[in-house]
Amino acid sequence: NSQSNQFCEAGIGYGEVGCGISSSTKLLIKGGTVVNAHHQEVADVYVEDGIIVAVKPNLKVSDGVKVIDATGKFVMPGGIDPHTHLAMEFMGTETIDDFFSGQAAALAGGTTMHIDFVIPVNGSLIAGLETYEEKAKKSCMDYGFHMAITKFDDIVSRDMEIIVKEKGINSFKFFLAYKGSLMVNDELLLEGLKRCKSLGALAMVHAENGDAVFEGQKRMIELGITGPEGHALSRPPVLEGEATARAIRLAGFVNTPLYVVHVMSIDAMEEIAKARKSGSNPSAISHFLKASQNLSLGTLNRVVKCISIARFSLRHIGQRVVGEPVVSGLVLDDSGLWDSDFATASKYVMSPPIRASGHDKALQGALSNGVLQLVGTDHCVFNSTQKAFGIDDFRKIPNGVNGIEERMHLVWNTMVESGQISITDYVRVTSTEWYALTVTLRYARIFNIYPRKGAIIAGSDADIIILNPNSSFEINARSHHSRTDTNVYEGRRGKGKVEVTIAGGHVVWENNELKVVPGSGKYIEMPPFNYLFSGIDKADASYLSSLNAPVKRSKSTT
Ligand code: URP
Ligand code: ZN
Ligand code: ZN
Ligand code: ZN
Repeated sequence: NSQSNQFCEAGIGYGEVGCGISSSTKLLIKGGTVVNAHHQEVADVYVEDGIIVAVKPNLKVSDGVKVIDATGKFVMPGGIDPHTHLAMEFMGTETIDDFFSGQAAALAGGTTMHIDFVIPVNGSLIAGLETYEEKAKKSCMDYGFHMAITKFDDIVSRDMEIIVKEKGINSFKFFLAYKGSLMVNDELLLEGLKRCKSLGALAMVHAENGDAVFEGQKRMIELGITGPEGHALSRPPVLEGEATARAIRLAGFVNTPLYVVHVMSIDAMEEIAKARKSGSNPSAISHFLKASQNLSLGTLNRVVKCISIARFSLRHIGQRVVGEPVVSGLVLDDSGLWDSDFATASKYVMSPPIRASGHDKALQGALSNGVLQLVGTDHCVFNSTQKAFGIDDFRKIPNGVNGIEERMHLVWNTMVESGQISITDYVRVTSTEWYALTVTLRYARIFNIYPRKGAIIAGSDADIIILNPNSSFEINARSHHSRTDTNVYEGRRGKGKVEVTIAGGHVVWENNELKVVPGSGKYIEMPPFNYLFSGIDKADASYLSSLNAPVKRSKSTT
């Protein structure tokens, strides 16, 4: 059919049409350095039926097992991209990568799971979810969902509960920008934060002041600045800093955790740093440890593994704020927006904008010292024909850049090769941390998520990459697997290449060839009440008991 032809051209083989997806369900990865977020060691990894069965040096296996030699290479959990927009209707068009092409690109770059944002239909969460369930049927890798909230009433409030308790979604995103379409005001944000808290769901914000952006856009148009550079000039870092600070303060007022998506500026990052240092959260870890005393020894052993992740994540926490940088913010600067060629300049248009040189280095520093915790991409791609909708007016350029295929390579090259983070930290910021965020405090459900994913230990899903630190990568639109015809990382090269990707126990990327099957990806449910919620009830109770009873005043008679 025409679709498979299209992908054959792009170098993507369909398993079911004879491109030969590996039928072997038994795999041995020999002699590599196995890296988890808490530990690394030279060991073999044995996989059967999609599950990691053993991780030990010198494993012996029977004939008929496919053996992959990983000597001198790193064997790591597949990447998890916590921020993508596949097949999203946005700004009068639809992103050109859908759940098949976007995921195929991800697998070619070493990412084996992503979490996409469901956009409600006319404010309806359920209708939005049904639309995305349909879009995701062609998935070739595992995925989860966040849900955006664009209006608030009794129906939305009720549906939020259904979404969390029955549909496996544990996070809601509020857009403080995109006035006139997705934007919410402070009243709605407050209602949403309260509802998230009661459901144990993580509130996420796109932090830019949408009213001020609207004003900034008017100013640029009045000045006659209609090109892509007007996009950056109309929404400067101060508007991101303001909205980040406001969202943090409102989340603190409600006393619920907050996740700030796509942190693009020093201004926003410093607000997060300040909040994470403020206050204290002493009850969290002691509560976690105390509760674990009631567990059996076997379970406790596994809990200890979780704690080493949770403790790591908690170490800086004052106010419970998580900051997500995206690859574009970490490695690009805004110079491209001034390019005299519209197709080149417009490909860099995303929101919040890619900032002036200096913000990138500061965000890298914040990732290495723990102020920011995990790296997304905000993969949201439009081709040059779609970008050209805004040829006369930057306000009409569809917002978004690529990154789902490039993230693992660029983070390795920028952060590990430069010595800014360790290899175990690499695994944490590209994979494990999101799972730490889904570790729930209802113990029966802890092991649903971590270490099912984000780890290479016996019992985990076999989502694995093999990275060769001595091999090199090069990025360009001709060879990438996304459907878009441009790449914001065009021409970048560096050390460290993902040579093999294994998803659900199948080798899907090897020898620069993809073998993927539409419909093979699974929906991953994520339970509420992650570790960030630990101790919130106690903090609320002690706050309430610290208040004096209402002051009694006699009525004045004169
Ligand atoms: O420009 C962007 N970021 N497009 C995707 C929508 C969003 O704000 O995340
Ligand atoms: Zn956003
Ligand atoms: Zn986004
Ligand atoms: Zn299978």
